Amino acid sequence: MNVATRNISGSETPDTLGPEPVSLSLNVNGEIQTALADPATTLVEFLRDALGLTGTKIGCDRGACSACTVWIDGEVAASCMTLAFDARERSITTIEGLSREGKLHPVQRAFIEHDALQCGFCTPGMVMSCAHLVNNNPRCTLEDVKTAISGHLCRCGTYPNIFKATLAAAEAVRADEKEPAT
Ligand code: FES
Ligand code: FES
Repeated sequence: MNVATRNISGSETPDTLGPEPVSLSLNVNGEIQTALADPATTLVEFLRDALGLTGTKIGCDRGACSACTVWIDGEVAASCMTLAFDARERSITTIEGLSREGKLHPVQRAFIEHDALQCGFCTPGMVMSCAHLVNNNPRCTLEDVKTAISGHLCRCGTYPNIFKATLAAAEAVRADEKEPAT
C-alpha cells in the first residue's frame, strides 16, 4: 500500500506499507483499540479477527448484502468495503457498542419482542441501519424503514417483522421523548 505523507520539506512523498503487519489504532465504540494487521485488511476483518468483535458479519464481502454494516462517524457504512487503515481518525460504532449503560437500544429490544430474526446472520447489520434511522427520524414511516434497509439481504425473509420492530422502536423513542424529565 502506498501512502502519501509529507516529508520535512513539506512535499508529498509516498511511503510503502506492508506486506508486513502494521500497527493500527482505531476508535471503536468509544475506545482506542490497537492491533497489528496487514495494511490491506478491511475494517470488518480488523473488527472480527484483530479485535474479536464478531458481532459484525461477513456475507458477500463485496458491498452487496449489508451484513457488515457499522457506523463510521455516525453514518451507516459497509465495513467490507472500507480499509481498516482508512478508518483511522474516524469513530466506529459496531453492534457491540449500540447499548447504553447496560440497556439495549430500542431497536435491539424491538427485534427481540417482534421476533425479527430467524438465523440472525443479517441481524446485526439490519439493527445498525434501523437504529440509525430511528435515532435520526423517530417519526419514520414504513416507507422510510423499507428505504433504510433496501440494501440489506435477508435470506430468511424476516422483512415483515423487521418493519414492525423498527416502527415499534420508533414509537418507543417518541414515547420516551414525551416523558417529563424527573
Ligand atoms: S459483507 Fe459487506 S456488503 Fe456484504
Ligand atoms: S434472519 Fe437469516 S438472513 Fe436474515
